[in-house]
Amino acid sequence: MENCLYSLSGFNFYFKGNILLLFLLLCGISLQSQIIPNPEVMNMNSESFMFDSKVGLVYKNLSKADRGFLIPYLKKSIEKELGIIVDTGKKQPKNIILEINTKSAREQNDESYQLYIDRTKIHLRANSYEGLFYATQSFLQYFTFYNYSIPVKLPGLTVYDKPAVNWRGMMLDVSRHFYSVEAIKRVLDLIAYYKLNVFHWHLTDNEGWRIQIKKYPKLTTIGAWRNEIPGSIFYKKDSSYTKPLAIEPYPYGGFYTQQQIREVVEYARQRGVMVIPEIDLPGHSAAALTAYPEYSCEGYRHPAPNSTLWNGKVDTDKVNFNYCPGKESSFIFIEDILTEVMELFPSRYIHIGGDEVDKQYWQRCDECQQRMHSERLKDENELQSYFLKRVTSFLEKNNRTVIGWDDILEGGAPESAIIMSWRGEKGAINGAKQNHHVIMSPSNPFYFNRYQDDSAKEPLAASYSINTLQRVYEYNIWPEQLDENGKGLIKGGQFAVWTEFISSLEHLEYMLLPRLPAFSENLWSLDQRKNYNDFIKRLNQGHYDVWKRSGIRFHPKYYNKSVY
Ligand code: ACM
Ligand code: ZN
Repeated sequence: MENCLYSLSGFNFYFKGNILLLFLLLCGISLQSQIIPNPEVMNMNSESFMFDSKVGLVYKNLSKADRGFLIPYLKKSIEKELGIIVDTGKKQPKNIILEINTKSAREQNDESYQLYIDRTKIHLRANSYEGLFYATQSFLQYFTFYNYSIPVKLPGLTVYDKPAVNWRGMMLDVSRHFYSVEAIKRVLDLIAYYKLNVFHWHLTDNEGWRIQIKKYPKLTTIGAWRNEIPGSIFYKKDSSYTKPLAIEPYPYGGFYTQQQIREVVEYARQRGVMVIPEIDLPGHSAAALTAYPEYSCEGYRHPAPNSTLWNGKVDTDKVNFNYCPGKESSFIFIEDILTEVMELFPSRYIHIGGDEVDKQYWQRCDECQQRMHSERLKDENELQSYFLKRVTSFLEKNNRTVIGWDDILEGGAPESAIIMSWRGEKGAINGAKQNHHVIMSPSNPFYFNRYQDDSAKEPLAASYSINTLQRVYEYNIWPEQLDENGKGLIKGGQFAVWTEFISSLEHLEYMLLPRLPAFSENLWSLDQRKNYNDFIKRLNQGHYDVWKRSGIRFHPKYYNKSVY
């Protein structure tokens, strides 16, 4: 077997298809992996790496910025978990090597990596920084879950791994409830541990504007704060809505400064995660329009709603939800905001929302009606399309690609826009048929603010469906109604957490775990490697314990369950 593995070291790392896979299966002993998501190939060899002398931690081809993070990060993780000091100063007889390949044959978005352990080395290799980060996460899980004794001896192995899809995302709504930078970093740590690569940050909505925009300070002095009715989020559990208020409403809110946003974007980049901001337009904009009502159809400010907006207590006639596409000034305002947003977020993608626009406001507005007339738009859906196309064209001029919820197909989506399909698969199917790229985020089962178990046993959650662990694990992101060409336009998937009923990090974690790793394995691992019962078994072989040790809350249903 050793010879077999030795002969592989010269083998082209960019393996494709099944030949190498077959070869590895024949000459290696397949290892029961506790790693989530399950690696493509994981074989043991007959050697072991003993931490019995000084071990070096060295690198090849890493940029200064990358090694500045990755080397101390890995050193700290190893020392914390194994109680062993590693030497990052110079090469030793035994080494941990981090290497980015210099070969030119890289594919776009190449996230593959290799992890190889024998007697003298632990070798992490990849074609990209992201791949190398995934190698560190697999290694971290491997030694954390391996039941070693002292001195630490890790069995030799070879892992070849790559994701099945390149877009593996999480959306977090920080408008309905605000999460601190520290909380966001904890969430990023979790998604990075399970090799997700997109953090979609829903920064604006009716209930709060959360990003500092220097040109328009009222967005955060006014738009980031609302009058919260104490206990209002619990009204829905018994659907009474009638409880008297014991305490007066109080100001609730918060926002991220531009400095904090930059800090989060860099924190995520170091962990292989791209942060995509969402500025929700032209609806879901009550917070912005409370601060700057001149860009709404009404043009003046209604008294601030003395209520959170989701609890059914708001008179919708008294809130400005939509921008007015009849006014040129609305576009100037939005472009100014997006200019600052682009300075903060280096991502190629900007999400502009586009969901759930209540078009009655536009029907009643003279300026909107004039715009429809002058632009020959036949209805308000086309007015929405006009609005979104203008915003998209501005972003395109700045080399960005727009993402929108599937509602943007109404009236005609901007040609280059990526469709995020949330109302089932309809948006994905229609979008792909019109040649749009698509990201699958169907609310059933990918909205993690929905119940994960029988609602009677659970804290208050959105109730439209029960998005169980198994359904998240097994959901097929390629709609059957699409042909191969259509399926080829599916970039991947995202789960979403809307936070109307989730007001703490602790509750958020409870909604995320263990659905997050189930989602991750669904998208990372090929169908042949997916096995729900095996997944539960692996969760119980270390993952729950790690969360417990780190003080991370999780849903306990399958913890230590004898399902295997
Ligand atoms: C959405 O859930 N309104 C995208
Ligand atoms: Zn208008």
